[in-house]
Amino acid sequence: MYALLNQFKIPFFFLYILVSFYIEANESQDSLKIGFGSCLDQDNPQEIWQPLKKENLHAFVFMGDNVYGDSDSGELIQMQIAYTKQKQRLPRWLKNLNPLAIWDDHDYGLDDGGGDYILKKDSQKLFLDFWKVKEEDPRRSQEGIYFSENKNLKDKKILILGLDTRYFRSPLVGEKRNYIATTDTSTTILGEEQWEWLESEFQTETNLIILVSSIQILATNHGFEKWSNFPHEKERLLSLIKESKKPVILVSGDRHKGAIYKQDNLYELTTSSLNKPLPGWLETVWKETDPLILGTMHYNMNYGVIRIESSGVISVELKGKEGEILQKASLKI
Ligand SMILES: [Fe+2]
Repeated sequence: MYALLNQFKIPFFFLYILVSFYIEANESQDSLKIGFGSCLDQDNPQEIWQPLKKENLHAFVFMGDNVYGDSDSGELIQMQIAYTKQKQRLPRWLKNLNPLAIWDDHDYGLDDGGGDYILKKDSQKLFLDFWKVKEEDPRRSQEGIYFSENKNLKDKKILILGLDTRYFRSPLVGEKRNYIATTDTSTTILGEEQWEWLESEFQTETNLIILVSSIQILATNHGFEKWSNFPHEKERLLSLIKESKKPVILVSGDRHKGAIYKQDNLYELTTSSLNKPLPGWLETVWKETDPLILGTMHYNMNYGVIRIESSGVISVELKGKEGEILQKASLKI
């Protein structure tokens, strides 16, 4: 250690001040603010980072379609180009947060793609390289990009679990935009290995689990991809949450619409898109509803913020492109 310090000519005293300041800053922090977003087209303007910068976030989670690089053939040439562009567009302050990420179909490689995608291993390598996932990280040796990350806030432990809803997923049933629920209980979204990992993560001693899925978990009322298309998998997940008796918040993206859903005591924040809204006329011909939605769906660009106070009060917010609150929920752990 001494040799190292000497090599870089760092005085011990200066290092001591820096370390003390860092520890103190973290200990005195009385809230943890995590941002969420999905569907970020590398070719569209990215004004959404302006309100997000003002949030002074401690962490940020990308929930898929973090670039649009898929192609009909599944080849990854477009993906490489998309990542190169996106790298230049993400703001410095965001990069400094070392954002966490899962993928959805457009950064996986195939529109609505699943486990049968041939280039998924190559795509995983591109994804992990782009998101600067370390060589010793389990994602470098496992199949799929699911991960867990711990955050601490004074005496509270927060566990962020990111799911891979693509790598192992069985084929969908029905037509595009009109998928239906399968009755085949041998089919899967997560695959057995990821299920075992998830079940063991739920055993962790923690005060809050934030469970991140690219596709919606609670939504019932549309024909696109969602956990409801695999009812036995959804049931398994909801049972796992219930039996764990731990506070859980669900977060998802994918839809190019945002809303907060509530089923019993379980909230799901769906936030999409960061910069790729659906055409405005669509809302006039089909106003999506769901019995579980609090308020209404929001079609314009949006992002999510979960703020955890050291007192245990948590706010879950869906915010618009000016940083205005579109919908809010509160809970206490
Ligand atoms: Fe998307």
